[in-house]
Amino acid sequence: MQHDFVTARNAGLTASPSLPEPGGLSLPQSAVHVWVLEDALVEPVGSALAHTLSPDEQQRAQAYIHEWHRNDFIARRSLLRWLIGGYLACKPESLRFSVTPFGKPVVQWPHAARIAFSVSHTDGMTLLAFAWDCRIGVDVERRIDGLDVGGLGRGIFSLIEEEALDRMRPDAAATLLSIWTRKEALLKALGTGLSGEPNAYTTEDDLLFGAGHWCASHRGKAISGWTCLDLVFGPDVRAALAVSIEDASVTFHRARRL
Ligand SMILES: CC(C)(COP(=O)(O)OP(=O)(O)OC[C@H]1O[C@@H](n2cnc3c(N)ncnc32)[C@H](O)[C@@H]1OP(=O)(O)O)[C@@H](O)C(=O)NCCC(=O)NCCS
Repeated sequence: MQHDFVTARNAGLTASPSLPEPGGLSLPQSAVHVWVLEDALVEPVGSALAHTLSPDEQQRAQAYIHEWHRNDFIARRSLLRWLIGGYLACKPESLRFSVTPFGKPVVQWPHAARIAFSVSHTDGMTLLAFAWDCRIGVDVERRIDGLDVGGLGRGIFSLIEEEALDRMRPDAAATLLSIWTRKEALLKALGTGLSGEPNAYTTEDDLLFGAGHWCASHRGKAISGWTCLDLVFGPDVRAALAVSIEDASVTFHRARRL
């Protein structure tokens, strides 16, 4: 497996000097690209690319009460369009998305597009992950001090995950974030989000592959053939990636100025 998440741990991401022109992006089969959009770039990316949003996306943007949330949505959705446009070699504004009953956005046009993607945002950062012909989920969360570690995972974590959390008390905040991001990444890849049966799935350290790798099961049955990674962006931000590709090659790309 090739990935440079260890580099990501040190915040030394692969720097893309500028966003490539649509059509100029190349995503090899079995590769995963994870793009990082930091908050400092939200306004410039949004103002450069907002014109690519569809009328319903513009309407959704206007529904945000707080300007920051509005700008954040515009930037992440227009960057999503820009990058998918690049991978599919089509104009970002020509893409059409539909939304599944669980809220997962999927490419509706071009028809039969093979691109799989997942988006997650937290205070300070957005992650966008892409690969071909697979299921993919990414989740990023910022550590919040004073969290009710006891209550948060109820109904979401499996018994095994609850026990892992219990073993870490009283200092369980990092473990909580880790289980939480793994679980959301997996459930986003599966498309249900938290509205499925989240506690029927278990995420655990992958002892075979070692630190930074995790594995998942459903009611005790291993979900095999996936690449599941923890991504650590500094001490306060945790993220996880789940992709239904065995031995995926994962690389990180930082969105820079346009
Ligand atoms: C998916 C979910 C776990 C995301 O949680 P979150 O931590 O608040 O948000 P994140 O920033 O990590 O992810 C948001 C992104 O997830 C994606 N997303 C939403 N629902 C999704 C789903 N069911 N599967 C995969 N991805 C989903 C969207 O791209 C969204 O980005 P957007 O706001 O730019 O559209 C949560 O919203 C959930 O469980 N949703 C399902 C609830 C449901 O069934 N809703 C039905 C009515 S729409």
